[in-house]
Amino acid sequence: MIDKTKIHSALRTVEWKNNTVVMIDQTKLPNKLVFVKYKDYRHVANAIRTLVVRGAPAIGVSGAFGLALAALQSKAKTKEKLLDDLEKARKILFETRPTAVNLSWALEKIMKVAKENNDVQSIKESVIQTAKKMAEEDVQINMKMGKYGVELFENNDTIMTHCNAGALATVSYGTALGVIRATKESGKQIKIIVTETRPVMQGSRLTAFELKYDGIEVSLIPDTAVGYTMSKNLVTKVIVGADRILRTGHVYNKIGTYQIALLAKQHKIPFYVAAPLSTFDLKSNPEDVIIEQRKASEVTRIGDKKTAPDDIDVINPAFDMTPPELITGIVTEAGIAKPPFLESIKKLFESKL
Ligand code: MRU
Repeated sequence: MIDKTKIHSALRTVEWKNNTVVMIDQTKLPNKLVFVKYKDYRHVANAIRTLVVRGAPAIGVSGAFGLALAALQSKAKTKEKLLDDLEKARKILFETRPTAVNLSWALEKIMKVAKENNDVQSIKESVIQTAKKMAEEDVQINMKMGKYGVELFENNDTIMTHCNAGALATVSYGTALGVIRATKESGKQIKIIVTETRPVMQGSRLTAFELKYDGIEVSLIPDTAVGYTMSKNLVTKVIVGADRILRTGHVYNKIGTYQIALLAKQHKIPFYVAAPLSTFDLKSNPEDVIIEQRKASEVTRIGDKKTAPDDIDVINPAFDMTPPELITGIVTEAGIAKPPFLESIKKLFESKL
């Protein structure tokens, strides 16, 4: 296990250092803290695909840094050729994971900046600067979200969370875990229940690890114990992150979120979501959203051990959709949206204009 002092000074999930992208390899956690370095955007794409880096805001920033590498790698002598090279890289980065909207948001933002500049050198410089700024802003946005979210929780609350919406899913601090951190920092006594989050175990490997090392009281449960803990009054609130939120308040998040929200409704437990405005997709309808399907071996094996018969058919969606009627509030850096979401989400965006 990793030394606590080391993780505190080290915890920047993704960073730009000396024209290199540096990431924590999350596939190695919680056993080893390993940093990987990339100078090729294709390697960044592969890191996103294989969950070396994961979590909606973190993959957004990683995509932006991927494009910054592509700009540096390009040998183009003209603006048109450089934009061509960037477009090729954008496509490769975009195709890595389809559900989290932060990725396309970040890639589009970088492409816009590139197009606004007139020569090769200024395109390269502005792309790098914009990606670095995006990473810095991510941390600030999470802290702001934390400040808004504190009011939702009371002394002695036991808060359930799912997957990892923490420092490791962002550049630092976290969305749902950012709100939890801010609540703890405000002096309120809280306990956390974290689901292990089968099949990739982001809850037990990442969230339990982050909270434990922050000194926040945490209990780990199997995903199948959500109903039990709620029925025994062991949970007073739920807060999760999101990969995409529609203008109607439909929330796409890690598989299992929907059933937690249903159980919360059954047990009259408030269910909150925390996400930056970059996670909102104001254009799509539920039928437009692609749910990533992942490989069968995530379900048929635990580590090296086979836990299912050979050639079994597997359904392994990475995300599900929680409908707005199950959601009590959505915390953002512009405030908290409450039902009816069509109106409150619109207001949040208007307040940011
Ligand atoms: O497959 P993952 O690990 O990328 O899924 C992550 C989640 O579902 C998180 O809850 C979501 O990205 C919010 S992160 C702040």
